[in-house]
Amino acid sequence: MNPPMPATRLPREQVHALLKAMPKAELHIHIEGSLEPEMIFAMAQRNGVKLPYASVQALRKAYAFSDLQSFLDIYYAGASVLLNEQDFFDMAWAYLKRAAADGVVCAEIFFDPQTHTERGVAMAVVIQGLSTACARARAELGVHAQLILCFLRHLSEASALETLEAALPWREHFIGVGLDSSEDGHPPEKFARVFERARSLGLHAVAHAGEEGPPAYIWSALDVLQVQRIDHGVRCLEDPSLVQRLATLQMPLTVCPLSNVKLCVSPTLGQHPLPALLAAGLCVTLNSDDPAYFGGYLLQNYTDCFDALPSLGVADAYALARNSLQASFAPEADKARWLQGLERCFESVPSS
Ligand code: ADE
Ligand code: ZN
Repeated sequence: MNPPMPATRLPREQVHALLKAMPKAELHIHIEGSLEPEMIFAMAQRNGVKLPYASVQALRKAYAFSDLQSFLDIYYAGASVLLNEQDFFDMAWAYLKRAAADGVVCAEIFFDPQTHTERGVAMAVVIQGLSTACARARAELGVHAQLILCFLRHLSEASALETLEAALPWREHFIGVGLDSSEDGHPPEKFARVFERARSLGLHAVAHAGEEGPPAYIWSALDVLQVQRIDHGVRCLEDPSLVQRLATLQMPLTVCPLSNVKLCVSPTLGQHPLPALLAAGLCVTLNSDDPAYFGGYLLQNYTDCFDALPSLGVADAYALARNSLQASFAPEADKARWLQGLERCFESVPSS
């Protein structure tokens, strides 16, 4: 056997340039989590909504989270400023422009209709505002943007079923369903029937599992909900037989490193399990989750990880981008085109 080749390391600036240039998909972004404090205050003013924070600075200062729930409380308060179609459009358009600048060619965007319909905002307002922004992104930015409707798992399955039925007049405006919000105590199997109904309608299925919740939630997302991707999934590493199953299936995990640090799932980025997940042969993708709250959009997640985790090299950058494109729900012809672009991007780069 030949001795291993010494790893050639590219200078940091070159790695960052490559991470930016490579075509990639973002598969785990909550659009309500892209609302920047400045936009929250501007919308509060134009809509006459009173916020429990005196200023943008005071709101930003509150972004010190101890766990998922402490974040969700502020996230739902921030979303209370969204009332009109224009608000939903503005929020999504701002995110999509930012994503395009980060080299995102495909964005599959989560939205939480119940957060809005429970406040009396019509489903039509939510979906039309968001989908107009997605259509404009496809036309003007060259970003293939699609919507995934998420159910809030702290609410009942009956509410989720009602939400799905209420969204069906806009069926062509979303490609799948997801499951988010407070994980502990709300296992995937609580939503078995609504996911079955969604799948029968030809919708794709994904679910948050194994962020704060145990590996058992990942098993049940696979077996009961029959999901096509696991959102987060980092706690799979606690269960070797689950890791084996996920690796055999090449089940995509939409990992969100900056989120994991902010929500104390991982103590620091330098201790993030990303290298272990890759070493286990899992189909890992990187994503931003709630970029306005967690300190960075997609490219920042990539660059911060490559800065903090010295074992990551050019081959990992390639694998992460390729996984994201392959794991998207985009048409095969689009994926093939993006993958060719990815090959071109790495043609002249020495592997490390
Ligand atoms: N909703 C928005 N961000 C979330 C996260 N990280 N986990 C669960 N639900 C969410
Ligand atoms: Zn999430």
